[in-house]
Amino acid sequence: MDKVLVFAKKLLKEKIDKNSIVIDATAGNGYDSLFLAKSAAKKVYAFDVQDMAIENTKKLLEDNDLLEKVEVIKDGHQNVDLYVKEDIKAVVFNLGYLPNSDHEVTTLGQTTKEALEKMLRLLEVGGIVVMVIYWGHDEGKIEKNIVEDYSRGLNQKYYQVLSYEFINQINNAPFIIAIEKIKEMY
Ligand SMILES: C[S@@+](CC[C@H](N)C(=O)[O-])C[C@H]1O[C@@H](n2cnc3c(N)ncnc32)[C@H](O)[C@@H]1O
Repeated sequence: MDKVLVFAKKLLKEKIDKNSIVIDATAGNGYDSLFLAKSAAKKVYAFDVQDMAIENTKKLLEDNDLLEKVEVIKDGHQNVDLYVKEDIKAVVFNLGYLPNSDHEVTTLGQTTKEALEKMLRLLEVGGIVVMVIYWGHDEGKIEKNIVEDYSRGLNQKYYQVLSYEFINQINNAPFIIAIEKIKEMY
């Protein structure tokens, strides 16, 4: 069985082709942005609210000669509609806080939900949103409940929702919720 992060990448990779517009909703140190930039995708948008994350992401992309493929945006992912006007094929969220940084700057349930609603509107039929949920910290537990409730409530006519979780792991191990759009809702 694939580990959580390996499976997340697999889900993304099988959707992305040369016409795909894709989003890293939580750039952090830039590892997911780099993964998306290395994929076949036409263009990558990367969001983060922290200066350090923006700098680290730009540096990593620059070192790999891939910065020109990525628009790195210092703003919350809940404002995605201000920046992204095209249909999108894939989105990745790595929720929680950046390791080795200010643990106060963490993703929050309400803004994550707002971002998710907007991303789903932009998503092409056949596109996917992959969320890796870290819920060991207090805010993470609140966020987990909000994201799970919202995802469970999506109409199955329009969305398929997957949960990928090792249910015997201790210490609130991270898990995936992935949402695939199967039909446009008019
Ligand atoms: C777990 S880290 C992401 C790790 C990253 N994917 C990587 O590869 O290094 C979560 C990131 O979300 C960012 N963040 C928190 N709230 C955010 C928001 N509203 N919009 C965008 N990013 C946010 C944090 O600053 C932090 O860098």
